[in-house]
Amino acid sequence: MNTRELQDAIMEKKKENDVCILAHAYQSQDIWDVADYIGDSYGLSVQASKAPQKTIIMSGVRFMAETVKLLSPDKKVLLANSLAGCPMAAQMDRDDVLKLREEYPDAAIVAYINTTSDLKRAVDVVVTSSSAVKILKQIPNKQIVFIPDCNLGSWCEEQLPDKEFIFVNGGCPTHMRMIERDVKLAKAAHPNAEILVHPEVLEEVRKHADYIGSTTGIMKHAEESSNKEFIIGTEHSIVQHLQFKCPDKVFYPLSKECVCHNMAATTLMDIYRAVTGAGGEEIQLSEQVRKEALKPIEKMVEMG
Ligand code: 13P
Ligand code: SF4
Repeated sequence: MNTRELQDAIMEKKKENDVCILAHAYQSQDIWDVADYIGDSYGLSVQASKAPQKTIIMSGVRFMAETVKLLSPDKKVLLANSLAGCPMAAQMDRDDVLKLREEYPDAAIVAYINTTSDLKRAVDVVVTSSSAVKILKQIPNKQIVFIPDCNLGSWCEEQLPDKEFIFVNGGCPTHMRMIERDVKLAKAAHPNAEILVHPEVLEEVRKHADYIGSTTGIMKHAEESSNKEFIIGTEHSIVQHLQFKCPDKVFYPLSKECVCHNMAATTLMDIYRAVTGAGGEEIQLSEQVRKEALKPIEKMVEMG
């Protein structure tokens, strides 16, 4: 089967088996073409609870499929490729959060959505890159323990000088591969280009950016900007997607090292197998985890 035939077969089976395909923006173009919804982590969470289909396939990483299951407990949720995890979500567990609670009894504990469901049971609220600042502004506590991404956290800290942030070492290994030298080289090569970055990048990169935002935010900014050239400081796939969306503009990667192998793990064939019932991993969460982890997620949707 070639790509086109595989895509046609997926579209047919999707209808026949009442399946909705959600794809994160970092998925490849051939997967985008068969998805019902494409977005950033926040958009995918909101969309998950709106989908009328009985089965949802997540083409993205594990924490995203878990979030879908938390929000749609009666649906069958499949992670298209069970090897697709987010290394940042493995950096901290629930016991780490419980220790932080003891250490900082007056603080609100805020977790990035890139964490496990088990960890989410112990936090006050969950945030995504596109909702973090808005949600943090509404938290009454002065002290905020922000986990696990210190870079996203420090970007929020810059915008909320009245809050006192506490960070624990953590971050996205993919985005942290980009360093200030990459920006200087890219800028020298393309002096007219706007620099658009994800808040998971290091501060030394972020300080050179013209725009900082989520994956969806970056794409929207590039589409709406009157500029013709852009340097993209996020996962490499976004460079290709933007090139498709805006053929009259030119996009350069800030660094070609910014590739997330977990996001790239899912293939069109994985989607085909999941949609035909021959593959994918069904997400199972215990009732206790589901009930407790749902609370900070619901708060995120309410406040975000
Ligand atoms: P977004 O919420 O911006 O899609 O970020 C998710 C992610 O994993 C980025 O690395
Ligand atoms: Fe996780 Fe970073 Fe990959 Fe996003 S890009 S899924 S944060 S490792």
